Amino acid sequence: MNESTPIPESLVEALRGAQTVTMLTGSGVSAESGVPTFRDAQTGLWARYDPADLATPEAYSRDPRLVWEWYEWRRGLVAQAGPNPGHLALAQLERHVSRFTLITQNVDGLHRRAGSGNLIELHGNIMRTKCSAEGVAVEDYEPEGAPPVCPNCGAPLRPDVVWFGEALPADALHAASEAARSCDLFFSVGTSGLVQPAALLPFEAQRSGATVVVEVNPDKTPLSRHADYVLRGRAGKVLPALLEATYGS
Ligand code: APR
Repeated sequence: MNESTPIPESLVEALRGAQTVTMLTGSGVSAESGVPTFRDAQTGLWARYDPADLATPEAYSRDPRLVWEWYEWRRGLVAQAGPNPGHLALAQLERHVSRFTLITQNVDGLHRRAGSGNLIELHGNIMRTKCSAEGVAVEDYEPEGAPPVCPNCGAPLRPDVVWFGEALPADALHAASEAARSCDLFFSVGTSGLVQPAALLPFEAQRSGATVVVEVNPDKTPLSRHADYVLRGRAGKVLPALLEATYGS
């Protein structure tokens, strides 16, 4: 048992008995992989930019080269990163639970690389590129140019992520709400709970009778005082401890 992260016995029992578990993650679950959280200060060349100013359609139409190069920098960070024990514990947990859904706000693709299967990428995936005009994913394109252009229609390409002010993919949002409404346990891991509609999901779970809402975060968030359990710690420590306490693995 990981002594620094005591897991309440009642939570272990609830998890052991749960048929349906829904998990919401934010950038905090990737922090231990070396991927800066969204609200971390940016480093180096990008230190002077606020992500919230770059991850917008306005920034892209104003300066597509700047936005494309920022995402290329972030893709480089993500490509060097790897799943951490928190990601791996979630992939393990999925194997123990009959109906397990992992909803992530992260665009870094680390849950998929860790082996998570039933995954809803609410905000898209930074490693995917799409045509800014047709909105469809584009895999093969000439890498020249920043941004490169769509081989089909010639419009500039962009990362396949949801920018501030853009609607979330309707099918992903519907599936996420469904998973929140139909679960026995809802976990909110590594998210500040500041950005809607993802921030509403734990409350949707609570309103629709999810017996237990659990937060995993070293810091307080708006959800903390509403959660049934708050496991105050880092995901890379708490999630493996939860797995070990519940399933001995
Ligand atoms: N383990 C767990 N949580 C952590 C860890 C860690 N090792 N390190 C930091 N955290 C927590 C922080 O305390 C914070 O509450 O992770 C949270 C990160 O919050 P944000 O940086 O706001 O990231 P996130 O909640 O994912 O942002 C949500 O907002 O900016 C948009 O689209 C972007 O998907 C992002 C969304």
